[in-house]
Amino acid sequence: MRQSSLVVVAMRLPIDDDVARDGACEWRRSPGGLVNALHPILQHTPTTWIGWTGSTGPAPQLPDLDSVRLHAVPLSEEEFAEHYEGFANSTLWPLYHDAVEQPVYHRKWFQTYRQVNERFAEAADACAEPGATVWVQDYHLQLVPGLLRERRPDLRIGFFMHVPFPPPELFVQLPRRAELLAGMLGADLVGFQREQAAHNFAQLATKVLGARATDRRIELADGHLVRIGAFPVSIDMAELAALAQRPEVAARATQIRHDLGDPRRVILAVDRLDYTKGIEQRLKAYSELIAGGHVKVHDTVMVQVAVPSRERVAQYRILRDRVEREVGRINGEFSRVGEPAVHYLNRPFDRAELAALYRVADIMAVTPLRDGMNLVAKEYVATRFDHTGALVLSEFAGAAAEFDRAYLVNPHDLDGLKGALIRAIEADPADVAERMRAMRAHLAEHDIHAWLHRYLTALDTGETLVAHLKR
Ligand code: ADP
Ligand code: F6P
Repeated sequence: MRQSSLVVVAMRLPIDDDVARDGACEWRRSPGGLVNALHPILQHTPTTWIGWTGSTGPAPQLPDLDSVRLHAVPLSEEEFAEHYEGFANSTLWPLYHDAVEQPVYHRKWFQTYRQVNERFAEAADACAEPGATVWVQDYHLQLVPGLLRERRPDLRIGFFMHVPFPPPELFVQLPRRAELLAGMLGADLVGFQREQAAHNFAQLATKVLGARATDRRIELADGHLVRIGAFPVSIDMAELAALAQRPEVAARATQIRHDLGDPRRVILAVDRLDYTKGIEQRLKAYSELIAGGHVKVHDTVMVQVAVPSRERVAQYRILRDRVEREVGRINGEFSRVGEPAVHYLNRPFDRAELAALYRVADIMAVTPLRDGMNLVAKEYVATRFDHTGALVLSEFAGAAAEFDRAYLVNPHDLDGLKGALIRAIEADPADVAERMRAMRAHLAEHDIHAWLHRYLTALDTGETLVAHLKR
């Protein structure tokens, strides 16, 4: 086993499988920000990325991805059902998102969650050279820092939670709450998207584990000190802005607008088809705007991109049926021949097509009921290089803490949501430009490279890894 001085441990590997021309399966780099951002370090630091390919069965041997060694962790069909679909996405996911859907508790799921976490910890142990840095990502792997520290006290361990971390009143519902907290506290640094999440975590460490905690540090009974804090994740703004300015993307945007009937305004929403994203509320608000005569279908078109996600989980299947019924209802009631009210696109797109869609959007509606960050909001801002475009943004997305110049809205308040859409539709272009300028200036300063630099500086106390980061 080749060992590395930096090991990233995430549920998913930074690759997608693709079917090659000859029908064979081939792997290509997925367009995730994290692996791009790690690039400056990767060129100087032997790195291993541990993750799952997304398919069940034995783990394949994977080729290196540039300088990153890929180590695939296998998941059986049962583990997929009980760890990924079960404890991660039917227990933790709804609970961490304000319990907007009822979390499901099954004792067996936690056992499988632990079993899969142990496998990831074993893999990290095998791949980490003495004194290495191991960086564990997200709610699927909350036990890994603790399991790894037991095996390897020599490692520097970071943990970053990409999703919200809930208030104590919700978290204490979890039957295995103490183990989950202790798992995260195996790290030296636990990072969250927002200050409030770090505060929730500190309160829980005190309440459930009796630790001494502030919003910056937690001291455990055995003397282990864990630093905590907010490190809002970001995107590669420069890369996306460059893509959006490419002539072929501009041409594609013109074509899309034309295909939409050259309307005066396009409202765009881009989400995973997830009940946290507020898709139903948004569709309802738009249909009420049409019904109330505030917008005319030929004049203001809505495009809803909803990429399928976690499709075997019951709550996601139910959501898909409901969303599709609502789209059908709206189109049945308000469309004319060749002029649908809602253009509903239920499939993945490549980055260039997404960038073209963002360029077409006069109004971008990002209105989740709860979201750790919401990178779509940041991607939209990155593509608006001419300072046009109004962002309607939920107060409950992590991005709202950074984009206070967006048209902020409470997506549970339907009248408020309609009001925010109308304000964005009718806004003075000078006001729109001023807001977009401010958001772009913030994003340029706080891109994925800045995020990586802040997190690793805090984890690494300014030594080896950080020396490789360009700023
Ligand atoms: P989440 O992590 O909950 O999915 P984010 O908004 O943070 O939400 O991230 C979603 C990511 O998925 C973004 O990078 C976005 O560009 C991408 N994405 C969303 N819809 C599609 C789609 N239809 N095709 C390809 N990528 C998509
Ligand atoms: O942002 C939370 C998250 O679970 C990520 O970890 C993940 O990449 C994304 O949502 C998509 O979900 P999934 O990996 O379940 O398809």
